[in-house]
Amino acid sequence: MSALDRLAERQLVVVTGKGGVGKTTLASVLGRLLAARGRRVLLLEVDPRESLHQALGTEPSGGEIVAAGPGLWLQNLQPAAVIEGLVHEKVPIGYLARKIVESPAFHHFVEGAPGLKETALLGYAYRTLHAGRRPRADLVILDAPATGHGATLLAAPGLLAQAAQGGQLGDMAADLAAFLADPTRCGVALATLAEEMPIQETLELLEVLQTKLGLRPDLVVANGLYPVPPAGPGLELLRTRRRLNEAELARLTAAWEGPLVSLPLLPLDRGPALIDRLAQVFLEEDP
Ligand SMILES: Nc1ncnc2c1ncn2[C@@H]1O[C@H](COP(=O)(O)OP(=O)(O)O)[C@@H](O)[C@H]1O
Ligand SMILES: [Mg+2]
Repeated sequence: MSALDRLAERQLVVVTGKGGVGKTTLASVLGRLLAARGRRVLLLEVDPRESLHQALGTEPSGGEIVAAGPGLWLQNLQPAAVIEGLVHEKVPIGYLARKIVESPAFHHFVEGAPGLKETALLGYAYRTLHAGRRPRADLVILDAPATGHGATLLAAPGLLAQAAQGGQLGDMAADLAAFLADPTRCGVALATLAEEMPIQETLELLEVLQTKLGLRPDLVVANGLYPVPPAGPGLELLRTRRRLNEAELARLTAAWEGPLVSLPLLPLDRGPALIDRLAQVFLEEDP
């Protein structure tokens, strides 16, 4: 079974990795490929500097759902707006909900509660998937925030459930933690560059995900590999870069035996042409 086959069976795929390694690019590639398989895919971006729409060639989301091709939609999410939406949903009287959201105590709580923002984002993804008889999507790909470790996001509902110990919030967090821990419904895709620091961080993240959270990623993607230069003199810098990529990939595969896809550094700007080309390479690499 290919990594893409496995991802196609999931309801939620969390794409994680450090900023700048190609997380948004990978989320877009996976979105295109899984939508092409007939899934109705919603890509959620949690980055105030929106870039998902640029990768896919649509107008910016500004918080709204935007169509990005057959079976594919994207949406930019602001954690604060998501939490406020949750309050409005749970407190159906508009005036009261506004009072709560505007109160200093509420802001204090949102900033202070451990894992609340992360849980709200995951909860939004969950509700999108389980909203009545006709949910808006049957697969959500979450382009996780670049801040902190990917593990922070994935650990949040469990931590919040412990801290809240029951109540409406605690129960919601516990349901989400169970959802995330179910490998038939939730998957993790890890993006990295084949360079020293990113590989070191990837090895650490793999360790934390597997030992602390019991999560085994469905896929690791080594992005931005330098091309193999043609034989002969010259192009020493390129040769050195490529050798470094290969040494770091070897370090990764010594510790990670799961599915691994390598994607090349392509001479294309951010945009749909880059995503389409990387999607083709992905299919060749993941037969
Ligand atoms: N394989 C690749 N080939 C060429 N450019 C790439 C590749 N992967 C990413 N990029 C470019 O690198 C920049 C950062 O990628 P992005 O996916 O936005 O990273 P992240 O979301 O991890 O911060 C973007 O301009 C993107 O178009
Ligand atoms: Mg990004």
